[in-house]
Amino acid sequence: MYNKIDFSKIDLTAEPPAEEPARQYYYIAKCRQYVKSASERLGRTLTSTVVTFGCQMNARDSEKLAGILECVGYQMSDCEEADLVIYNTCTVRDNANQRVYGRLGVLHGFKKKNPHMKIALCGCMMQEESVIEKLRKSYRFIDLIFGTHNIFKFAELLCTMFESGRTVIDIWKDTDKIVEDLPVERKYPFKSGINIMFGCNNFCSYCIVPYVRGRERSRSPEDIVKEIKTLAADGVVEIMLLGQNVNSYGKNLEKPTSFAGLLKEAEKIDGIERIRFMTSHPKDLSDELIEAMKHSEKICRHLHLPLQSGSTRILQAMNRRYTKEQYLSLAEKIRKEIPDIAITTDIIVGFPGETMEDIEETIDVVKKVRFDNAFTFIYSKRTGTPAASMPDQVPEEIVKEGFDKLLKTVQDTARNQVARWQGQTLPALVEEQNAQDNTLLTGRLSNNTIVHFPGDASLIGRIVHVRLKECHGFYYMGEAVETPKF
Ligand code: SAH
Ligand code: SF4
Ligand code: F3S
Repeated sequence: MYNKIDFSKIDLTAEPPAEEPARQYYYIAKCRQYVKSASERLGRTLTSTVVTFGCQMNARDSEKLAGILECVGYQMSDCEEADLVIYNTCTVRDNANQRVYGRLGVLHGFKKKNPHMKIALCGCMMQEESVIEKLRKSYRFIDLIFGTHNIFKFAELLCTMFESGRTVIDIWKDTDKIVEDLPVERKYPFKSGINIMFGCNNFCSYCIVPYVRGRERSRSPEDIVKEIKTLAADGVVEIMLLGQNVNSYGKNLEKPTSFAGLLKEAEKIDGIERIRFMTSHPKDLSDELIEAMKHSEKICRHLHLPLQSGSTRILQAMNRRYTKEQYLSLAEKIRKEIPDIAITTDIIVGFPGETMEDIEETIDVVKKVRFDNAFTFIYSKRTGTPAASMPDQVPEEIVKEGFDKLLKTVQDTARNQVARWQGQTLPALVEEQNAQDNTLLTGRLSNNTIVHFPGDASLIGRIVHVRLKECHGFYYMGEAVETPKF
């Protein structure tokens, strides 16, 4: 493991090793020297910040970047007036891209004040050629640009940046490589995401992810279990298994295995109290998974099951490969087998050709499934996806009317669903002190509902039994019961 490595013992007069991760350890050692001499010259510690723009997988990548940065000698901070700022970008919808461009202008201002400042960009947006062209032309103050496939090479790229003094751009079109055992700096000491697979093969017609994240690749169950054991030994009690479609985990491994099988292995690991996962594609959700969840003490009572649309016609055009009826019967089966589960979802409004009747179908599904929460998105046209060239892009007024109506239904159903826990005492993992009122703690229930309750910071990272006193729409106010049952 990397934490057993003494970087000061690596011989930098030798050629860099060809194999990974040894090659990156070599570059970490080299970067340490650059950072050390820069901080001696400036008479202060160098600071760095990594900003996450995207999903949980993007956030996990940020932890890997932060792990390397800390290892090479930067002090991590939340302030963007730092010596090295990295934007880990997302391109799933256009507004994510626009936020990046907007904030780059602010960073440029900081860089004019601090000539030592370095700015790096990585993540999904960098896998788009048009973005790179625009950055090359109009954002010349950026020092390092890399993509999603070569993130494991971050130490090496950092080193090239220090040595070259020019903008370093390295984007790979795809990869079949999975590099293990690089440093990671977790945001929370007590919980962690774990990549179980990378990429996506589904090609939903609106979605850019398969183009920017490449083909689906599963990690071996042995490597995943080893990582979870290391995390457990380091104080992690809750894990979230991450993939664009966890239900197809393991199908393309040399020795094929199932996601439910992996969950059963993860459950056996001592110290891990809670297991979450994200995201489940409805078309691949197996009875084996429902059974595994039903009988598990550790798998959380929460399933994120993106619907996208309730209209079979639109689902077909989206290439989702299930119908309205199939989704409804799946949700019904899950609710019947696991009555205390919370089901959440993602919905897109304004997909090409969508009419108010289609949106009514979606609203019908929301009412029937009674989602505990739903993220509703306005369709964003992504260049290169099949949907971008479909006729009948939906006029803005229809999108707005449909979106508002859907949102109202979603909020009403979610409120009723969340209220069903009223008065119960349930275990909550304490995540942090409340930002507005530091006499309160914020905990998360197994079903993903948030509860605020009085308590002191020493409970952070522990599972506490909390009585849910008042439901405030989407969260609860509660109190810790005096004799926790754990
Ligand atoms: N792999 C996951 C989703 C990843 S993207 C899955 O299949 O469920 C997260 C969400 O972003 C999607 O569920 C979808 O609702 C939304 N999304 C993706 N592409 C979009 C687009 N072009 N416009 C609007 N929303 C989009
Ligand atoms: Fe995108 Fe569909 Fe893959 Fe999810 S399953 S990442 S929505 S293509
Ligand atoms: Fe965004 Fe990439 Fe995640 S496009 S949603 S950060 S996989």
